[in-house]
Amino acid sequence: DWVNEKLLQFQPLMPDFAARRRRLLAQLAPNSLVILASRAEMLRNHDADYKYRPDSSFYYLTGFAEPEALLCLHNTAKNDLEQMSILFCRERNPEREIWDGLRAGLEGAVTQFGMDCALPIDDLDNEMVTLLNGKNRVYVRLGYDAAFDARFSRWLQTLHGRQRQGAKPPLEIVALDAILDEMRLIKDATEIELMRRAAFISAQGHMRAMQTVRPGLPEYALEAEVVYPYMRAGCPVAYNSIVGGGKNACILHYVENNQILKNGDLVLIDAGAEYEYYAGDISRTFPVNGTFSPEQKQLYQLVLDAQLAAIDALQVGQSCKAYHHVAVRVLTQGLLQLGLLTGELEDLIDNHGYREFYMHGTGHWLGMDVHDVGAYYDADEQPRLLQENMVLTVEPGLYIAPDNMNVEARWRGMGIRIEDDVRITRNGPEILTAAVPKTIEAIEALMQKRLE
Ligand code: GLY
Ligand code: MN
Ligand code: MN
Repeated sequence: DWVNEKLLQFQPLMPDFAARRRRLLAQLAPNSLVILASRAEMLRNHDADYKYRPDSSFYYLTGFAEPEALLCLHNTAKNDLEQMSILFCRERNPEREIWDGLRAGLEGAVTQFGMDCALPIDDLDNEMVTLLNGKNRVYVRLGYDAAFDARFSRWLQTLHGRQRQGAKPPLEIVALDAILDEMRLIKDATEIELMRRAAFISAQGHMRAMQTVRPGLPEYALEAEVVYPYMRAGCPVAYNSIVGGGKNACILHYVENNQILKNGDLVLIDAGAEYEYYAGDISRTFPVNGTFSPEQKQLYQLVLDAQLAAIDALQVGQSCKAYHHVAVRVLTQGLLQLGLLTGELEDLIDNHGYREFYMHGTGHWLGMDVHDVGAYYDADEQPRLLQENMVLTVEPGLYIAPDNMNVEARWRGMGIRIEDDVRITRNGPEILTAAVPKTIEAIEALMQKRLE
């Protein structure tokens, strides 16, 4: 079957985490320290945790997926020999490992993860006070985790309290994200390949949904079909899947997925797999009964025209906001032609008259996080220009509220979004998610080939 066939072609592919640490270190001021904590485990209810998923930036620099860990990069002076990566992590514990699984331990952190040094996470407070002492600059991520912020603050307090004994609290505290997010925004060759795989697996779920949907199926049953290929490929979902039949598609973050799919309605699916910590993010909209009605065809074709035009605008050197304006123009023009809007095209664009039907942006950076890190505006507050190996989504949509009395009844309650993942290249956009059909003909044709 496809999973075994395709996945067997995927050779193991491991990012060079140590090279990333070296690239980060090369950008640091002398006598500085990087501190990056992993994410805490989170309770789901009572004493049951959510499955642990490490923080993306932490994993990006370490490849280390255990909880209770902190990376410290130490740049003591001018010379490479004095640069050090230290991983604080859990020590091995045969009894706990019976319950929670294997731990790399201090030795594994060095031998398997290439750290220069590993220290027990239980000694973190003492060691950090020592490491922070006398540093000119500390790169740290604050404002995301109140518990970490408080802990960092206590390390500084301890140093403040020891100043008469010669302690020197760090002089500058700098946002680590600014450097790290910029690194993550431009994907290297390994990342691109991992993202192609994430996109490929994500696509399989959408194709399976098109081939298994039928009137009377609950949305959650269709969700099961979408995620089946993801689980077969060992991938969690990259975010909560949206499966919205009929007017539920007009609720942008609809995740209840508990209504019955009706004959004559469209269904909107927004779902993606996470492969080796990289997200796929795909939306498709198709008729529950396999055939688009005339109104559905008209509105769908308009969204598709907008999406294709927007993808064409993804060229090296273009503003990263230009493709949104392209999508808005095509959609607004089409809404005028269909009689859903009245007025002058330029007025409707300038005054956001289209927002009644198109109220979100046309996409976002994509990577280890579905809404990936990276600034959208430069220091002059201008939209930044697209560069090779940025990856972003293109996801225009139209949503006609079920109670919108300004439009003819035949349009009401339709929600359509088409979303692909695109890599910027010097030769034009590379659509990573091209495997899922999106033309009306290709969708109807695939839906004919039912899987039972
Ligand atoms: N699935 C989230 C998004 O499309 O932005
Ligand atoms: Mn998206
Ligand atoms: Mn999406």
